[in-house]
Amino acid sequence: MYFTSQRKPFLPLIVLTCALSAFSFSPVAARHGMVASSEPLASEAGVEMLRAGGNAVDAAVAVGFALAVTYPVAGNIGGGGFMLIRLAKGEAIVVDYREAAPAAASRNMYLASNGEVVPHASTVGALSAGVPGTVAGLALSEQKYGRLGLARVMAPAFRLAEQGFTVSYEFSESLRSGRDRLSKFDASRQIFLRDGHLYEPGEVFKQPELAKTLEAVAQEGAKGFYTGRVAQAIVATMQKYHGLITAQDLARYHPILRQPLEGHFRGYEVLSVPPPSSGGVALIEMLNILEPLDLGLPDSFESMHLIIEAMRHAYADRAVYLGDADYVSVPVARLTSQAYAATLREEILHSKPEAPIPAGNTQASESSQTTHYSVVDDEGNAVANTYTLNNGYGSAVTVEGAGFLLNDEMDDFASKPGTPNLYGLVQGEANAIAPNKRPLSSMTPTMVLQDGNLRLVLGSPGGGTIINTVLQVVLNALVFKMDILQAVSFPRFHHQWMPDWLILERVGFSADTIQKLGEAGYQIDFRDRMGDCEAIEVAPRTGWKFGAADPRAYGKAVGY
Ligand code: DON
Repeated sequence: MYFTSQRKPFLPLIVLTCALSAFSFSPVAARHGMVASSEPLASEAGVEMLRAGGNAVDAAVAVGFALAVTYPVAGNIGGGGFMLIRLAKGEAIVVDYREAAPAAASRNMYLASNGEVVPHASTVGALSAGVPGTVAGLALSEQKYGRLGLARVMAPAFRLAEQGFTVSYEFSESLRSGRDRLSKFDASRQIFLRDGHLYEPGEVFKQPELAKTLEAVAQEGAKGFYTGRVAQAIVATMQKYHGLITAQDLARYHPILRQPLEGHFRGYEVLSVPPPSSGGVALIEMLNILEPLDLGLPDSFESMHLIIEAMRHAYADRAVYLGDADYVSVPVARLTSQAYAATLREEILHSKPEAPIPAGNTQASESSQTTHYSVVDDEGNAVANTYTLNNGYGSAVTVEGAGFLLNDEMDDFASKPGTPNLYGLVQGEANAIAPNKRPLSSMTPTMVLQDGNLRLVLGSPGGGTIINTVLQVVLNALVFKMDILQAVSFPRFHHQWMPDWLILERVGFSADTIQKLGEAGYQIDFRDRMGDCEAIEVAPRTGWKFGAADPRAYGKAVGY
């Protein structure tokens, strides 16, 4: 049986060497501090704060605002997310700045009179936007845990918006890929597409309206966004494009401080985010299932089968039980309990994969447009932050006169319980739309502690794939003993219960393994890339920081 097989001492090394030869270089090493984000200028902005005497939270807030300028596909001030903060002394907190449904939102707002979901209503345009949380979340994090103050940590973002930055090949391609959606809305077309004269690599991209918005926030804090000129601009844009967000919705918005979820895995402590993200619950549920099993070799059928079955169970539970726990009852304790994991483990060990069911049109989309960054400072304070506009460039609506994109996070609700969303995720009543409720997320900013000390900081974009990406990087580092860059680079796979498909990254899995997975009954599909994990590992004995930017994207780990 797979779970009792003994690992041959020399084999893993050989297999790993082969599997990784395509990617493996070295993680970035630094003595003092490290920032890993999806965009190099934003990582530099974070390190600028660390060098100026700021802590990890100062750096994280600086990165968050900088990404809103240099990485508008996902970096944002018009979206929301989750910041997991752990201070060196041990205190840990989650700042939940997830978007909220406008007060005028209603359960059936995306359904036509025939009861069917209106295509694109929850993914493009002003009606798809939730009340943004990012500015309130970053401002609160800075105020409670930062040292340098909002004006100082926003300086790099302001500079990048006002003076502009050089367009990279990747950014130019990203704008090109967003062309169809962005061209539907006046300010988006003017700012991001220059009215059809697309930015080419090497040109300078300036955002004067965004700079003014950032200045208002730097001077007035969150009030500069949620009231006054910027708020009026949001409301006017809503009126122009038939959205629901009102001045009252903006004034009412507040981030929520939550206790991180805590799990245990083979002696390590795992910290992650609670509802309204499903990330922490599902991650801990999967780790609990897998804890006592012999996972063998990382890209073997035996190992993958066990991990895939853990994924299927956790995502099935996600679909049924998870939602905003401030609005519905979510059985977090039961789902993350060892006893529950033991029952699921028994099922897995004594059953075959279910017969495949037709995927229909529920195949998950390929988008990977959220963004995660990780920060560790010299004292050992750490931040794992994942935030998003949901789709690439969000709803594609730019707030007129204020220069920033709004999210389409409303699609993370179940527009019609039982019907799949953008990521093919089927969700239930617990995640139905209600006024002021927060849509269920998969974002999974996570930390792992060893003997009470910080060991890993990580997270990823990827819609429904996020949780499985984080799971695999954690297993790669802790179980398969890869260094952090190997752990991040290693080929990924994904199963989300429904649709009943196993998704494999196209490059990296052996033909034998793929064949065995097929023979076992998995219906397999391939995807070019999955996720963009930006991770940091702290060496247990020396405290050196090792950063890894996912080679699937163009981020950068910068240390000092
Ligand atoms: O909160 C969530 O789970 C989604 N809105 C995340 C979207 C995402 O990761 C987009 N990238 N694929």
